[in-house]
Amino acid sequence: MFKRIILDRDRRALLGAAGALVLQVVLRPTTALGQAAAPPMKIGVIGAGHIGGTVGGLWVKAGHPVFFSSRHPDELKGLVAGLGPLAQAGAVDQAIAFGDVVFIAVPYGAMPQIGVDYGRSLAGKIVLDAGNAVASRDGAIADEAERDGIGVTSQKYLPGAQLVRAFNTLSYTIFAREASRPAPRLAVPIAGDDPEAVQVAAGLVRDAGFDPVVVGRLADARRFQRGGPGYGQNVSAAELRQKLSLAP
Ligand SMILES: NC(=O)c1ccc[n+]([C@@H]2O[C@H](COP(=O)([O-])OP(=O)(O)OC[C@H]3O[C@@H](n4cnc5c(N)ncnc54)[C@H](OP(=O)(O)O)[C@@H]3O)[C@@H](O)[C@H]2O)c1
Repeated sequence: MFKRIILDRDRRALLGAAGALVLQVVLRPTTALGQAAAPPMKIGVIGAGHIGGTVGGLWVKAGHPVFFSSRHPDELKGLVAGLGPLAQAGAVDQAIAFGDVVFIAVPYGAMPQIGVDYGRSLAGKIVLDAGNAVASRDGAIADEAERDGIGVTSQKYLPGAQLVRAFNTLSYTIFAREASRPAPRLAVPIAGDDPEAVQVAAGLVRDAGFDPVVVGRLADARRFQRGGPGYGQNVSAAELRQKLSLAP
């Protein structure tokens, strides 16, 4: 999947009028995880509220084309108008079709329905999931996320997606305020089972203006779900690694 994205991107860059600058980015040597910003990538956002709108907006500012979606896309006109030509809005199925990568940022109680409605079109895609399960808002699925871990729970509802947990640990106000701050940047923990998907997610975290910290597989995402030691940590990558006893 990742290789296909890179090939598609190479082709687009070679054909595109953006010319030398894009070409330079695309052809630069592959670097280790998190050491270089990801080149432009089409991103579909499902749920363009506080967190989807904020993180999606940071990606637009980094040069990524972003398609925002919700059940009421007319309400997203102001958001995309403010972000400029790289941003557009529409229906959820359009966002999924648009995105090489999909970012899901909906109230967690909607995940089962999203799986039913869009699971097939999300299968095989890299999907970043920022949802948190809150019992008072999301109901019984919060018990499931607590019992099984939220990464495993999300994968259950989106089987076949190359899922990465990301951007769930802090308020959108903090992400908006701290993006691209002077070093040390704010850490964003991520976890996923597919190494290529994790690598893509790490690049997108960096492009949004943060330092990715790979915590492990989806089962390890419970370490930074609500109530976990990595949740709510407004710290640098070095500090987060230390808190989670990860290798420096
Ligand atoms: N707010 C934060 O600071 C923050 C931080 C980290 C993680 N999170 C997590 O991120 C998720 C979203 O939180 P939020 O605060 O951004 O919520 P929000 O501001 O209420 O936005 C939710 C978005 O999801 C859309 N949506 C809801 N149900 C949907 C469905 N079934 N299909 C498609 N779109 C749907 C909503 O639009 P429509 O109703 O028009 O469809 C809206 O655009 C939650 O799981 C939350 O726990 C939030």
